[in-house]
Amino acid sequence: MLDRLKDYSIIYSFDRSGYQRHARHFDNIDEQYIRGRRFLITGGTSGIGAALAERLTNQGASVVVTGRDASKFEQSGLEQASIDFLKLDMADFSALMNEPFGQFDGLVCNAGGMPNNLKLINDEYDLIFASQVVGHYLLIRRFIEQGLLPDGAPIHITSSGGMYMQKLDLDDLCWQEAPYDKVKSYANAKRAQVILNQALPNRYPGYRFSCSHPGWVGTDALREALPGFTGRLEKRLRTNDEGADTIHWCLAQGASLPNGEFWFDRAPRKVYPFFWTRESDTTRARLLALCETAWAEQIA
Ligand SMILES: NC(=O)c1ccc[n+]([C@@H]2O[C@H](COP(=O)([O-])OP(=O)(O)OC[C@H]3O[C@@H](n4cnc5c(N)ncnc54)[C@H](OP(=O)(O)O)[C@@H]3O)[C@@H](O)[C@H]2O)c1
Repeated sequence: MLDRLKDYSIIYSFDRSGYQRHARHFDNIDEQYIRGRRFLITGGTSGIGAALAERLTNQGASVVVTGRDASKFEQSGLEQASIDFLKLDMADFSALMNEPFGQFDGLVCNAGGMPNNLKLINDEYDLIFASQVVGHYLLIRRFIEQGLLPDGAPIHITSSGGMYMQKLDLDDLCWQEAPYDKVKSYANAKRAQVILNQALPNRYPGYRFSCSHPGWVGTDALREALPGFTGRLEKRLRTNDEGADTIHWCLAQGASLPNGEFWFDRAPRKVYPFFWTRESDTTRARLLALCETAWAEQIA
């Protein structure tokens, strides 16, 4: 009963004490679907993605991490753990479509952030939406349709509890009508990721789609994006390794993982805790059409 109340409080659930309470019921993660497999982690040069890369490598996987800034990888120590780096900007759609990736057994769409300044991509969306939603959609489609992932492979998207209060809004992705709000843009992109995770299994039922909230994790990105928030909660933030746990667990479930669910601390969670955040069928269809158009433009 007390545990349930703490979960409702949000703060004692998303924080480190929440992880520790939930982790009392966790089993060791089986390496059956990890050992000998090859994973690509976008945004794996720091924070949660880097911790995930280390976890997978420790279980006998080979891992390639991506990021825009090679120096982050050099400073991460991942190279010493035999983890490879690929320079990749998730908002550079042409690079996403032309990079000769090679074969993988699992894909983790983890790259993300909350840039302070508005940057438009192709005059169609801001950098957050372009890199986290459209870029990852293109990557997923390319990996599936060009046979870079085998049937049954896991595809995981790192979303955020930041989307809980956000209803998908596609009307002003370039911020022409309102001043740029990085927190709203981030929440909107994370909401769009959750919707894609629900929709993609219908189109590609042979793959295992999952999406998660890592909790509040003390990464550089969080500290830079929300200094006031992290300053107040510093001692309550999860470690990077704790933030990577649910993604690792999802990848390790194989075919037993229900498709298209949203996970937090290894449990499926509601994605619309507030009824007013539920998007209409029309908005949902618009999101898919927008992604479809981006794909069509790239393969034309
Ligand atoms: N930390 C949290 O509390 C928290 C909570 C909820 C969700 N998340 C999500 O967890 C994921 C990982 O975040 P993190 O906290 O671990 O942050 P982080 O340490 O800053 O890691 C972000 C990674 O993404 C890469 N990246 C950022 N923007 C990119 C772009 N446009 N193109 C390519 N790569 C890009 C970064 O490298 P470059 O900058 O060199 O490109 C870095 O490797 C994100 O999706 C984030 O939204 C984090």
